[in-house]
Amino acid sequence: MNTEGLESAPIHVRSPGRVNLLGEHVDYNQGVVLPIAIDRQVELFAWPLDQPRVEITALDLGETVEFAFTNLEQKLDRGHRPLPAWALYPAGVAWAAQHQTLPLQGFRAAFRSNIPIGSGLSSSAAVEVAFAVLCNALNGWNLPLLEMAHLCQQAENVYVGVHSGLMDQFASACGVQGSVMRFDTRSLEYQALPLPPGTALVIADSGLRRSLANSAYNERREDCERAVAILSQDLSGLQSLRDLSLEDFYRLQNKLPEVTARRARHIVEEMARVDIAVERLKSGDAAGFGALMFAGHASLRDLFQVSLPEIDALVEIAGTLPGCYGARLTGAGFGGCTVNLVQAHRVGGFITALQDRYRAQSGREVQVFACEASAGASILEKL
Ligand code: GLA
Repeated sequence: MNTEGLESAPIHVRSPGRVNLLGEHVDYNQGVVLPIAIDRQVELFAWPLDQPRVEITALDLGETVEFAFTNLEQKLDRGHRPLPAWALYPAGVAWAAQHQTLPLQGFRAAFRSNIPIGSGLSSSAAVEVAFAVLCNALNGWNLPLLEMAHLCQQAENVYVGVHSGLMDQFASACGVQGSVMRFDTRSLEYQALPLPPGTALVIADSGLRRSLANSAYNERREDCERAVAILSQDLSGLQSLRDLSLEDFYRLQNKLPEVTARRARHIVEEMARVDIAVERLKSGDAAGFGALMFAGHASLRDLFQVSLPEIDALVEIAGTLPGCYGARLTGAGFGGCTVNLVQAHRVGGFITALQDRYRAQSGREVQVFACEASAGASILEKL
């Protein structure tokens, strides 16, 4: 498909990626997370069809896939070939909708994205949410944003097979411009909080991607579930690590296998960090918030063990640069990006220095860019 006809599309959706400031791997333990939707996004253009079929072009890959709603369960295209990996996201959204007996009209669509793929910035959730927003409009579902996020999580968990929490889809669907989102993944309540005054966010993409990241992610989740199963023998009513106090964890940690204890310790301490971080956000305490980011990184590195030496180096270098309040790995880990909280007037110098120092130290290049907190996904109005 050439890109010239895109502007004539009757439906145009924008759906952002996200960066998480603190609360890593706590969303599948019913904890509180602090993501923002970013100004990097999927753009989706669509035309309704009369037939019950879908034709999607991934503009960045130059690939087109066609599937029918009757082939969704088997993950096959109209020629009975397995769907390519990228098509599992839109097909998964249609599959999840079918399971909820939501109506589905056919469509032709094309999308592109400037969210680096597999980098911990939720490129896949942004694709899912884009298609959910499209289908919501096309079929008059009238789903609230959070339910749309849930539908996308179903697609990710069951259809794609990554047992992720709700944070990414939530941030992409519900982000508020200029704001950090405090999202309680147990009560599902959320509120928009300001970034500390005079600060800006900078993302550094290491370019590293670990191929077994999905299975390592699922293993971490199993470790957390194992900790709950073992500790619930002593603590009746323990449903998730959200219910575990720091005191009970320190008292009972010897009952856990060593690796399980490390994983659980990261979770309970990270949840405590988030509570303090929210207070520091509310009082505009950039240095105090940044200190919690550094502490969160150390815990991801040493206890949850999802970092890489190159990512640790990026965090360490950032910590020595003028104007940097905090830095940490963001997202699931196993490569990907760091997020940095930086004095707004020092962003330019910070970006150059981080690139130069990292190159000098590692011989590798790193992509570093400032990002803004953007609004969640929406249909863009025609001018
Ligand atoms: C991935 C998952 C999220 C969350 C993060 C880690 O991005 O999709 O649900 O678990 O990892 O915080």
